[in-house]
Amino acid sequence: MSKVTDKDATLEMDPVKPRFEMPDLPVDVLKRYAGRGPRYTSYPPATAWSTAVGPDEYRAALEHARDFAPNRPQSVYVHIPFCPSHCWFCACNVLITDRTDLADVYLDHVEMELNLLRPSLSKAPVAQLHWGGGSPSYLTPAQMKRLHDLLKTAFTFAPDAEQSIEVDPRITTEDHLAMLAELGFNRLSMGVQDFDPHVQLAIHRLQTATQTAAFVKRCRAHGFQSLNVDLVYGLPKQDRENFARTLNSVCEMSPERLAVYGYAHVPWVKPSQKKIDEATLPGPDLRFDLFRDALEVFLSEGYSYVGMDHFAKPDDELAIAAGNGTLHRNFMGYTTRAGTDLVALGMTAISYVDGTFAQNQHKLNPYYREVQSGKLPVTRGWRLTRDDEIRSSLIQDLMCRGGVTKRDLEKKFGIDFDTYFADALVSLQPLAKDELCTLTAERIEATFVGRILIRTLAMAFDAHLPKANDGLARFSATV
Ligand SMILES: C[S@@+](CC[C@H](N)C(=O)[O-])C[C@H]1O[C@@H](n2cnc3c(N)ncnc32)[C@H](O)[C@@H]1O
Ligand code: SF4
Repeated sequence: MSKVTDKDATLEMDPVKPRFEMPDLPVDVLKRYAGRGPRYTSYPPATAWSTAVGPDEYRAALEHARDFAPNRPQSVYVHIPFCPSHCWFCACNVLITDRTDLADVYLDHVEMELNLLRPSLSKAPVAQLHWGGGSPSYLTPAQMKRLHDLLKTAFTFAPDAEQSIEVDPRITTEDHLAMLAELGFNRLSMGVQDFDPHVQLAIHRLQTATQTAAFVKRCRAHGFQSLNVDLVYGLPKQDRENFARTLNSVCEMSPERLAVYGYAHVPWVKPSQKKIDEATLPGPDLRFDLFRDALEVFLSEGYSYVGMDHFAKPDDELAIAAGNGTLHRNFMGYTTRAGTDLVALGMTAISYVDGTFAQNQHKLNPYYREVQSGKLPVTRGWRLTRDDEIRSSLIQDLMCRGGVTKRDLEKKFGIDFDTYFADALVSLQPLAKDELCTLTAERIEATFVGRILIRTLAMAFDAHLPKANDGLARFSATV
C-alpha cells in the first residue's frame, strides 16, 4: 500500500464545483424521522431469526426447491472474510491477515461445504454470482480461479449471468483484473469511503484519489463496464467542504453506480470502532447535511436515485429497473434479478431458499469445525410464515417501487388490505401528515422525502420490530 501523507493528498484535492440547486427538503421532518431501523435486505430482519432453522431445515428447503421448483433461477454468494488491514470504521464480518495461504485453507472448507450441499442443489441456472467480504480481491488470481472452477462443478451459469465482486482498489492488481475478466466477472464494486486525508487517518484507511482514479482506468482497460463506488457519510472528521471534494472526485471517475452509506457506529458490536474518537464524529445536523450534499451532487451529475443509499446512471440496468418497477432487493442489496433462490457459502453467509433463511456460523473456527464434521454450518435462520410472506411482498414493493397498490396484494394473497393492515394504516397517518407518503383508497405512495426515509414507512408494516426503543439500537440510522 502506498504511504499517504496529508501533504500528498492535499495536492490532489480538486476545487469545489458549483452546485445544482435541489428543491428544498423539509430538514425538520427528515431529522425527526432519522432514527434507527432495519435495512430490509430481508423480511423479517435477521435480528428476528432463531435457531429453529438449522442444517436439517435448510437441507429440506434446498431439496424442496430442487424437486418442486426445478426451473426457479438461483443466485450464488460466497463470503471471503479476509482483509490485509483493518479500517476502523468497518462493520463487515472480516478477518485481518496478510497471509494469503490462509485463504487456501478457507477455500478447502468452502469446497467441503459445497460437497455437503451438492446432492441437494437444484440444477436451475445461476442468474447472479456475487463474491463479498471482507475483500474478495485478497484472494490471489490462482485462488480466484480455483473458487470459480469449483462453483462451476456444482452450478450452471446462465449465459447472461451477472457476476460481481467487491474489490479493494489498494490490493487489486493488474493480474487480478485480468483473471476476473477471464472468469467472466462483469461488475466490480470498490470501496472508497472518503478521500480526505484527515478522515482517512481517523478511519485507518489510506487511499488517494489519484490511486483510485488510476485503478478505475485499469478496470476500464480490462473491459469492465459496470463499476460501483462505495462512499460513507458520517465518518470522523468529515465536514461539508472536505466531503464535497470527495463527491466531486468520485463523480469525475464516472462510475456507473454509487452507494453512499450512513456510517453505522456500533462499537459495542465492532470493537475496532472504539479506536475512533467519538468527539470527531459529525453530529446529527452535519450528518444530515452530508447526506443531503451527496444527494444533490449525484442528482445534479445526472445519476438516478435507485433507493435508500444507491444511485445509478440513467442507462444502467439498476436505474432502468427502478424506473419500470422490476427492481428487487436481497442480501446483496438492490438487484435486477428477481425471484431467485440464494445459495450462500462461507462463514456468516446467508442463504434464502424456498422461503427459508439460513445463516452460517459467524466465526471461522466453528465454521471449520462444522464442515469438517460433515455438517452444514447453518446456525440460525427463519422459515417464512404466511404473514411474513405478505409483509415481505409489501416491504419489497415499498423498498423497490416506492409504493404499494392494495389491489395487487389483495389478488396475490386473498386478503382485504385495509382490514389486514388496519394497525399499520393508523400508524402511517402521522407520516402522511408529514408528507412522507400519500394514502388513497387504492395506493400507498412514498413521496420523494418518503423514499429517502423508506425504512420508516416499511417499519410500520414490520410485525417483528422490537417494540422498545432500545431494541432498535441494533440497527443503523435511517439517515
Ligand atoms: C465489505 S466492504 C467491501 C469493500 C472492500 N472491502 C473495500 O473496503 O474496498 C462493503 C462496504 O461496506 C461499507 N461499510 C463498512 N462498514 C460500514 C459502516 N460501519 N457503516 C456504513 N457502511 C459501512 C463500506 O462502504 C464498504 O466499502
Ligand atoms: S472496509 Fe473493506 S477493506 Fe476495510 S476492513 Fe472493511 S471489508 Fe476490509
